[in-house]
Amino acid sequence: MLVPMGDLLRRGQREGYAVPAFNFYNHPTAQGIALEAESLESPVILMVSGRYVDYMGVRHAAALGLQAAEAVRTPVAVLLDHGASLELAEACVAAGFSSVMIDGSRKPIEENTALTRAVVEFAHARGISVEAELGAVGGIEDAVFGEDDDIKLTLIDPDQAADFVRDTGIDALAPAIGNVHGLTKLEPKLDLRLLERVRQAVDVPLVLHGGSGLSDETVRTIIAIGVSKFNVGTEMKVAYRDGLREYFATGKYEPRLASEAAVAAVRKTVRRKIELAGSAGKA
Ligand code: 13P
Repeated sequence: MLVPMGDLLRRGQREGYAVPAFNFYNHPTAQGIALEAESLESPVILMVSGRYVDYMGVRHAAALGLQAAEAVRTPVAVLLDHGASLELAEACVAAGFSSVMIDGSRKPIEENTALTRAVVEFAHARGISVEAELGAVGGIEDAVFGEDDDIKLTLIDPDQAADFVRDTGIDALAPAIGNVHGLTKLEPKLDLRLLERVRQAVDVPLVLHGGSGLSDETVRTIIAIGVSKFNVGTEMKVAYRDGLREYFATGKYEPRLASEAAVAAVRKTVRRKIELAGSAGKA
């Protein structure tokens, strides 16, 4: 069942759990996420990065997300992840997405604020929730990674965060607290004190990007501090690869069965993350 993201996150914030948000890349990843969330009666966010929307086309990306969302009884938000422009956000909303993230985090704060506000004005008039990022999370979502020293991050300033939330009217804030997209050689060191300060400075739900490769203990800690949306992308790719690899290692070549093997592998990872987020049974 397709829903906007804001209500899901606000309920998680009130009740002290996080709604897991998973990136999808194709039919098997989208199906695996929605089916496992339904079987655990968890709300879930199905998200697709701007880079993948560019790759597959807005209508195809929307169809994959919407079909997976509408095939299950449990609430699913379909989110544009790391949208780079107002035009892309508008196109995704027109295609049926229920939520958009606008990522102006690498722009100067005035430009990020103006862009984010423009997206909020457009989206809220249509019942669509908006997430934005402040500071810059390390790595680049769905880029092909080079060395770890390619990873550039800027930490959020909590005072700026309060102004940013007030000036833009966003529904959810993704603070950069040392988190990094992708799998890194060592677990990124999150600045938990900074997360606490951001939690005190703003009242909107907080989002943690770069959830792949974080220890269970770290994830439990950030949720206890007050993170209400927890993003996992790269571990979906790994599960998808593992499912396909196992199937193709048998020497068979039926794409539908290969996809089913990938769905099964994706579901296992989704199950572990939903249990960690504490969202099972909250649908
Ligand atoms: P990971 O790929 O590190 O899980 O990050 C996903 C993410 O934050 C999507 O925006």
